[in-house]
Amino acid sequence: MEIHKGTSRIAFVGGNLTVKVPNPHTLRHLAKIFEYLKLGDLEELRNWFGYTEGNCVGFRWAISGLLQNWREFLLSKELSVIAVPTRLSIFGLLNVQDTAQNLPSTISDKDLFVTMGMAIGPEIMKDPHSVYGTDNFGIHDGRAKMRDYGNVKIGPILKGHIDPIREALKNLMSKPKETFSPTPELKKNK
Ligand SMILES: Nc1ncnc2c1ncn2[C@@H]1O[C@H](COP(=O)(O)OP(=O)(O)O)[C@@H](O)[C@H]1O
Ligand SMILES: [Mg+2]
Repeated sequence: MEIHKGTSRIAFVGGNLTVKVPNPHTLRHLAKIFEYLKLGDLEELRNWFGYTEGNCVGFRWAISGLLQNWREFLLSKELSVIAVPTRLSIFGLLNVQDTAQNLPSTISDKDLFVTMGMAIGPEIMKDPHSVYGTDNFGIHDGRAKMRDYGNVKIGPILKGHIDPIREALKNLMSKPKETFSPTPELKKNK
């Protein structure tokens, strides 16, 4: 088993299944929420998150690992052809996902970003981070799929472009090695 740390979750990657749990900052904040709720001290709870009327960004950040897990669970069925299935979620505290092997090293972060950008169009700029990084993708059932799709903005974007993304990822995987890095210009200068 391997352990990988993402931006908001820790993944325990096994041969067939991967377990994702919120990272320690989320768990620490959850413990604080329960502590203040137990004391009935809502004022202190608000202060802890720097919460002001209409601004709950800090709160959302604090529990982001939990929210990302939960969103992946809700989206999994609908996105099954472009996202690795999430089989189970215990209120976002623990998710079980199929394990997806890493993409071939010939595919770069840039290749992926361009591929996803072409499939999605300008909307990609609402959440470029989710589709930049080969680590957020893997091979499942012989296809390239997303294994990190819990960001708040990426869900609706993916739902609106399922077919083009599926096609683009299929083409990406079927490209011969030489069409990836080094880029043709660099090759020429060699
Ligand atoms: N289903 C999976 N199969 C294999 N590895 C995975 C899987 N899901 C996540 N990982 C690994 O764990 C890392 C962190 O998971 P990720 O879902 O990206 O969390 P975060 O949203 O915190 O970035 C990924 O970058 C990847 O290396
Ligand atoms: Mg990630």
